[in-house]
Formats: sequence, structure tokens, C-alpha cells
Amino acid sequence: MDLYEYQARDLFEKYGVPVLAGIVAETPEEVRAAAEQIGGTVVVKAQVKTGGRGKAGGVKVAHTPDEAAAAAEAILGLDIKGHIVKRVMVAQGAKIAQEFYFSVLLDRANRSLLSLCSVEGGMEIEQLAVEKPEALARVAVDPLVGIDAAKAKEIATAANFPAELVDKVAPVLETLYRVYSSEDATLVEVNPLVLTEEGDIIALDGKVSLDANADFRQPEHAALEDKAASDPLEAKAKALDLNYVKLDGEVGVIGNGAGLVMSTLDVVAYAGEKHGGVKPANFLDIGGGASAEVMAAGLDVILGDPQVKSVFVNVFGGITACDAVANGIVGALEKLGDTANKPLVVRLDGNNVAAGREILEAAAHPLVTLMTTMDEGADKAAELANTNS
Ligand SMILES: Nc1ncnc2c1ncn2[C@@H]1O[C@H](COP(=O)(O)OP(=O)(O)OP(=O)(O)O)[C@@H](O)[C@H]1O
Ligand SMILES: [Mg+2]
Repeated sequence: MDLYEYQARDLFEKYGVPVLAGIVAETPEEVRAAAEQIGGTVVVKAQVKTGGRGKAGGVKVAHTPDEAAAAAEAILGLDIKGHIVKRVMVAQGAKIAQEFYFSVLLDRANRSLLSLCSVEGGMEIEQLAVEKPEALARVAVDPLVGIDAAKAKEIATAANFPAELVDKVAPVLETLYRVYSSEDATLVEVNPLVLTEEGDIIALDGKVSLDANADFRQPEHAALEDKAASDPLEAKAKALDLNYVKLDGEVGVIGNGAGLVMSTLDVVAYAGEKHGGVKPANFLDIGGGASAEVMAAGLDVILGDPQVKSVFVNVFGGITACDAVANGIVGALEKLGDTANKPLVVRLDGNNVAAGREILEAAAHPLVTLMTTMDEGADKAAELANTNS
């Protein structure tokens, strides 16, 4: 789960990372009141879970409460990369002398943690990594040791901080690591970390991603979830215990096993190139036991997505044999009745495939097309999505 900036700010404050005052608000009036409370210059910042807010007009400096209210007027309702701004944070204004970059994240490929740090902040980090890779220090962090005082100095030195700043920055890096570790995060990023004209190091922005696998030992994380903002279909799938991720395309995808579903996404995207550029609409793994109930729940979720124009069911029968899966599909279509209203391409293979196909052929459901291979299935589903849209 990604946190909003204001949630990251609050977590930082709890651990003693230096931050400035910040108040969340949902209306220009609330913003005016918050600006009055904070006093002086404030920065009104869009709270959306995407980057590049500043460039999109979502970060504005205001010198008076009236200006802050006007800034809020402009920012609330703004569409930033598909995220509508419903809330802003009114942050105390900093007098920035220098901007830096710091992050610590999970490095799966190396079974380790990785810290990225640079004295050259202000630029988007992706851009910095491409244009000035030498300015971005990459320091591996042993998860069993973490970022202690020595490691923090190593990181700051590798990032080319001048000696007098290393001692100032290092303790902040140590504290940010404490947030990462104690909260079971997979990412803590501060861009920018700043040096103020007064000589203080402050985290002016914060991105934190929490590891949902640790939810069982982080009871306080549940309260951080923004239920209203989460996709209703994803919420529904979660309640049904399905592994579902909404994507942008038109072809609904159901498979069993994460590996098969991921390959199916690739094959569908590839096939889509020949059919008007249609793409997968989602990732849905119904897992090993593809029973009628699970299949119905999966289809129900996918058919509920108005963007979906066709569905590709790609199942490899293993412990759950293809005839059971076929019965699952037939049962699901019966259960859904008129709500099942989009073409379904089914490809079965593996254990008891002949029996599975027979069941589907006998049922002869008007929406179902049976295909033999994964490539053919993907091609058919893409074609149907294209003609259907
Ligand atoms: N409290 C503040 N006081 C003064 N300037 C600020 C403050 N917060 C942000 N800024 C300035 O605005 C710039 C952009 O802010 P911020 O990093 O929070 O958003 P962003 O980088 O545009 O968005 P994102 O980090 O989501 O990509 C900062 O680099 C900084 O120069
Ligand atoms: Mg930023």
C-alpha cells in the first residue's frame, strides 16, 4: 500500500525525522484556516498517489491565507495523471538552500536493501538516473544490519555530500531507515530532502510504500488505507479473496497461477497489436482450485469492469482437472445469468483436458468460444474485444 504524502509526513514525525508543520484539508475554507494556523508562507500540495505533482500544477506557494485558499481552489479537483485531487496538505514553507534525494527500498533481485542518494535533488530521480548516473549513489544495505551511523555516513559520502553536511544528514538517514524497518515498508523516499537557509536538514516530501505481507503485525496500518479511493472492483475482489489487479485495457484475463496469468497478459498484449491495439484489462489469478464458486466470483468481478469487451479464460488443469474447471465455467455462467454478457474465450489444457472440452462443447453456451492453444485463445479474445468496442 502506498501512503499519501501527509501520511508519510505523520509517520516521519512519529519517528523523529525532521519535517515541517502540515495540515490536511479538503476545502478552500479549511485551507485558509490551516494557513492561518501555520502562519507565514505555506505551500499547498495536492495529495495524490502519483509523482510529478509540482509539474502538473499541484504544488503552489502561498504568502497569505487568501492566496492559500485561492491555490486550493485551483488544485482541488485537478486531474493529475488520472488521479483527481480530493485533498491537499497545507505545509509550512521552507527557505530552501539546497535540495537532495534519498531513498531506501527493497532490492528483490539482490535479496537485499538498496539505498539511493544524491546531492543533486530537485530533478526527477528517473531523469537523474539516466542523465547523470554518476551523481546518484547506489549503496547496498544489509537488511540484518540496516542503516546504522556508519552506513549512513557511507551513503552520504558516496552521494558526494560535503564533509560538513555528512554529519548533519547521516542521523536523518538513520531515522528514515528506522521508519522503513519498523513499519515494514518496501520504500521510503524523500525527494526533496533539503538544507534550509537556517542550516537544518528537513524532509520536504515523503513517499512510503508498506508491505501488505506484514499487515498481521502492523495493526495500525489498516487505518491508513483509503477505502474511498481504492478501486471498487479491487475491493470486491479482495473481499472474495481473489488476486485481482485492474489494468487499462479491454481484454479481461482469468488464469490459474500467477506465472500463467502473467504470461497470458504478455500473449494478449502481443495479440492485441494486430487487433486495434487492445490490451489486457486486468490480472486475475483464481489459484489452484478453479471451482464454480471461484470462477463465478472471478467472472463477476471482471464483467463488472465496463472497460472489458471480452474475457480470456486460460486454465492449465493440474490438481484441479480440466473437467472440474469446465464445470466451474458452466456453473458460473448459469449463476451469473444475464450479468454474463461479454464473449468468453476459453483455453483449457493439462489434466483431463478432453473431458473438460466435452463439457464446454455440450453446454454450447452462446458466449463461449473454445480455443486449443494459448496463442489462438489470446488472438481470438483480442479480436473479439476489438470488434466489440
Ligand atoms: N514545504 C515546502 N516549502 C518550500 N518549498 C517546497 C515545500 N514543499 C515542496 N516545495 C518545493 O516544491 C517542489 C515540489 O514538491 P514535492 O517534491 O513535494 O512535489 P513533486 O516532486 O512535484 O511531487 P512528487 O514528489 O510527487 O513527484 C520541491 O522540490 C520544493 O522545491
Ligand atoms: Mg517530490
